[in-house]
Amino acid sequence: MLHNLSIEEELRNCLKNHDESSCIPPICYSNEKILEIEKDIFFKQQWICIGHVKFLKKAGDYITKDILNTPVIIIRDKSLQIRVFANVCKHRSAKLLEGTGNTKGIICPFHSWAYNLEGKLKGVPNMNDARHFNKENLSLKEFPSEERQGFCFVHFGDNPEKLDDQIDNFENIHSKWPMESLLSTRERSFNVNCNWKAFLEVFNEYYHLPFVHPETIGDVYQLPNFPDKTKGSFTSQFGKTSGTGALLEKEQEYALPEMPGLNADVINSVRYTWIFPNLTFAIGNDALWIYEVHPIGPESCKVFQTTCFPETTIKLDRFEKLSKQYYHRMDAAIEEDIPALENQQAGLRNPYAEQGRFSPLLEANVVSFANWYAKKLISSSNFNSFLNSNT
Ligand code: FES
Ligand SMILES: [Fe+2]
Repeated sequence: MLHNLSIEEELRNCLKNHDESSCIPPICYSNEKILEIEKDIFFKQQWICIGHVKFLKKAGDYITKDILNTPVIIIRDKSLQIRVFANVCKHRSAKLLEGTGNTKGIICPFHSWAYNLEGKLKGVPNMNDARHFNKENLSLKEFPSEERQGFCFVHFGDNPEKLDDQIDNFENIHSKWPMESLLSTRERSFNVNCNWKAFLEVFNEYYHLPFVHPETIGDVYQLPNFPDKTKGSFTSQFGKTSGTGALLEKEQEYALPEMPGLNADVINSVRYTWIFPNLTFAIGNDALWIYEVHPIGPESCKVFQTTCFPETTIKLDRFEKLSKQYYHRMDAAIEEDIPALENQQAGLRNPYAEQGRFSPLLEANVVSFANWYAKKLISSSNFNSFLNSNT
């Protein structure tokens, strides 16, 4: 049973300072209606980050992806600008592209309507007898998209605010790393039986490290700094490491070179950044690793894991061998996180689960997210109707 007033009051507890803030109320991790509201206000009414796209280098390089059940094409056009199209034909709605690759144009596999890389319909076989048929009006549905430091942002709503207003000092905070020169070398995806927020939270907190990762990465991380002051819908926390955070503590001898041009103050460190709502990454000396999380239902999510390295590192003869140790570290940590998350989810759906309190420093990025989340939810008319309907 829902206690509507208390949900709102509990959300207000998330708006306090770091050392006073409470965790997001448990009901927000298992309720279907709340998930629908989240999808609307977080995923459709603001810019969302859909991954690092520098590996799409040439005109016509593309990937396809389903974002909240919307299949999209992410492609470089002739002028090398990234574009994001709905992956659906303007004739009889066939899906246009699959997987990843390079193409001169987007040709529908069904009746061969042909679109150029800018999404304009150029070729329509056997349509000469169609009256009042105007190719000009049949460009692919395009969503506003922009690139920042190699990351692609897209907006599915009608009135996008300026991206720079949403992630104001994002570039500044990451300017010490050569983000633009990084290329992804492995992406894999998997489903986890937990709420989408829980997955992002565990990646962003230090508190669980000695308890969930005692033998693998727990000792690599030192106490983090307090989070940076961010302006906009993201949070970021920097911390020193013993060696590289991208390798297991027992496999540090496999380290690849540092990224070119790093300042001494970011050697042996990791910066953890969460671009709200659903993409988070860690950037260290040598590698960038990214998690993009899409809700499937209130208690399950699909996760895309991507690992990136500088182009100079990828060209090394030893890269193929040593990169495997990096992938091994990513997978080993996640294999320890997943049972912890599924166990947490079992607790979150317990009707007696109660709102907890954060460790101000060790869960600092999670506090910032809870604050942002609660503020958005409380001010949403959808959420207020939900509260009223449950009085
Ligand atoms: S559905 Fe695409 S050309 Fe017919
Ligand atoms: Fe973890």
